[in-house]
Amino acid sequence: MTLVVKNLTVAYGGNTALDRFNLSVVPGEVLGLIGPNGAGKSTAVNAMTGIIRPNEGSVMVDGRELVGSSPAKILRAGMARTFQQAQLWRGMSVLQNLTVPMLHAGRRAAEIRANEVAEVFGITHLLSESAALLPFGARRLVEVSRAMMTKPQIMMLDEPGAGLTPNEKEGLKDALHTLAETKVSVLLIDHDMDLVMTACRRVIVLDVGRVIAEGTPDEIRENPGVVEAYLGVGI
Ligand SMILES: Nc1ncnc2c1ncn2[C@@H]1O[C@H](COP(=O)(O)OP(=O)(O)OP(=O)(O)O)[C@@H](O)[C@H]1O
Ligand SMILES: [Mg+2]
Repeated sequence: MTLVVKNLTVAYGGNTALDRFNLSVVPGEVLGLIGPNGAGKSTAVNAMTGIIRPNEGSVMVDGRELVGSSPAKILRAGMARTFQQAQLWRGMSVLQNLTVPMLHAGRRAAEIRANEVAEVFGITHLLSESAALLPFGARRLVEVSRAMMTKPQIMMLDEPGAGLTPNEKEGLKDALHTLAETKVSVLLIDHDMDLVMTACRRVIVLDVGRVIAEGTPDEIRENPGVVEAYLGVGI
């Protein structure tokens, strides 16, 4: 599936959080989206996945306009996401968490799918654990796995690497690899430059709602505008 976003604009009151944002992702591509705090990254994902309605712009998946559709309809169109704040159901097991998005297909079918996804993301051993007791990194992997339950073709990950140990980060990188191999397109948002720069071949940089750079990791690292936007933060 190909995602093409044009002129996506979001204002909160008089504040433009996202200003004529453009993006295109082809199948199997892991595209990075970075930028300082408040740059508009989550706003972009929220506008693309129907959580908020943009003031202007277009979000097309395989030529089909999605602006104005509900989050559920956008999910059915093949675009899934995770949230910046972990959102597992703490009172449920990992298996139960995974099955929720697929329960409409029946418990049995949902559990079969959950086992498939768990295998792909290396979390089979966690299926019977309580979600509330999982280490942070495992919780993140379960969230990505849960978002994969409906077999989306486009996946948006909002800071999946935050708070992961180096080992857990390797697990996440493997998972991203697996997604790309199965031709899922991934939009990866993260402040962890090592993660973004190694997982993505192309990176877009947002600053105060505007795209200030787009290119390969090397081009991005050497871009003076990017260095300036991150002044004092390091890239
Ligand atoms: N619901 C909201 N109402 C008003 N302003 C908002 C709202 N959500 C975000 N903003 C503002 O919009 C701008 C973009 O915020 P956003 O959360 O998209 O940034 P971000 O790039 O995801 O930042 P971070 O890296 O901290 O997650 C910020 O100035 C923020 O304060
Ligand atoms: Mg954010």
